[in-house]
Amino acid sequence: YVIGVDLGTSAVKLLLVNLYGEVVHEVSKAYPLIQEKAGYSEQDPHAWVDQTIAGLSDLLRQFEGNPEDIEGISFSGQMHGLVLLDEEQQVLRSAILWNDTRTTEECKEIVSYIGRRRLLSITKNQALEGFTLPKILWVKKNEPEIFKQAKTFVLPKDYVRLRLTGRIHMDYSDAAGTLLFDIGKKEWSKEICEELGIAVSMCPPLVASHDFIGTILPEVAYKTGLSPATRIFAGGADNACGAIGAGILEDGKTLASIGTSGVLLTYESCGDKDFDGKVHYFNHATEDSYYTMGVTLAAGHSLSWFKDTFVKDKSFDELLADVESVPPGANGLLFTPYIVGERTPHVDATIRGSFIGIDSSHNRKHFTRAVLEGITFSLNESLEIFRENGRHVDTIISIGGGAKNEAWLQMQADIFNANIVKLSSEQGPGMGAAMLAAYGCGWFNSLKECADRFLKIEKVYEPNVENVEKYKSLFQLYKQIYSTTKTLSQ
Ligand code: XUL
Repeated sequence: YVIGVDLGTSAVKLLLVNLYGEVVHEVSKAYPLIQEKAGYSEQDPHAWVDQTIAGLSDLLRQFEGNPEDIEGISFSGQMHGLVLLDEEQQVLRSAILWNDTRTTEECKEIVSYIGRRRLLSITKNQALEGFTLPKILWVKKNEPEIFKQAKTFVLPKDYVRLRLTGRIHMDYSDAAGTLLFDIGKKEWSKEICEELGIAVSMCPPLVASHDFIGTILPEVAYKTGLSPATRIFAGGADNACGAIGAGILEDGKTLASIGTSGVLLTYESCGDKDFDGKVHYFNHATEDSYYTMGVTLAAGHSLSWFKDTFVKDKSFDELLADVESVPPGANGLLFTPYIVGERTPHVDATIRGSFIGIDSSHNRKHFTRAVLEGITFSLNESLEIFRENGRHVDTIISIGGGAKNEAWLQMQADIFNANIVKLSSEQGPGMGAAMLAAYGCGWFNSLKECADRFLKIEKVYEPNVENVEKYKSLFQLYKQIYSTTKTLSQ
């Protein structure tokens, strides 16, 4: 057996997985967000560790076998969150998370010091509030006493791993989201560190995601019931692990993940392409590979906002049951899901959403369909960037809440103009983490071999030619809404 630990933003989810990729037991333990001011989003790193240990103990209580049969553990982690440590490796302040937006000024500073093109050529990404470097600069400027004591920084899952093993590392896939990392060379960027006054020694040693880090500390074995021989493997960024858990392991493989936010992600074998920062470009958690990714900030969030605001008394299933009775295009009603701003392709925190084309024949069902279509059109803008850059995408694996509804899966096939694959018993990033542990333990010769054993296709949804044509022309209209409504935002 292996355990995949998925350290998310609201909870840590742990999966105990057997040799066949079956989830034998699963546990989830929540922790709170700390939101002191508008735009702030922090978490207590000790809560991650306490809840991970509590989750491991719960798993072990449910497990009827011999703890020695649990061979390895690996991690998937929420990306970008800053954990500052002093020289005793103690936490100096709460972690500043990926969805904290206080660092607009610092992003501007990074661009003015490094230059947009140079930043893109090294890190392959634009300076965004969510990334780690602007958070480090914010602490340096606003909390100099704390910064002075900071010896090193890590990302969320690295801190949990440190407490489980006593060893400090960061893997390439998570380092890629710091904006301090040379994506192509796979090393910390000395130039960026030096020009922004950050000691290179603050950056932790780098490892690959399936690398063996150490066995668990005796006190962790004691508290959880795990064998002291349990081996820990580095793990990766949640988007990379989600991709592994869906088998995105070779050229041509693409993922649509619709949760609170939505992600369109495709495998890249090279780290030297230029997408001009239009999509994120990160190291994958498999050896010497990469992925590009576009993000719709409010995907499932738009749907839950719509339900909670207008149809609170219905369940999601009841709400979505309406959708099939409305024709594609919702009789001329369009929705843009920019209710918390938009990342790809506009990178605009202030744009707001809209319903366009309302007429008196529209009822709740049309609005529901328009919301689903708007979310999917937004993700299609990311897909369009991949295709414009020569990526051939004819099949997409769909995971998350968006893969739970048949009508939405067919809508994805029709809007993306691609076959949509639904996996049976899809488990998200936690399964990717378990696969890293299984590969690290030597169960397989490659992650690909592991995916062939662990992942099974449940159904494929093929695009309907008539709907594809209809959506193609609606998508042209959808794309005009951003520039037309931008000037109206307050
Ligand atoms: C990726 C990002 C989020 C977090 C969520 O750039 O900010 O997907 O990884 O955990």
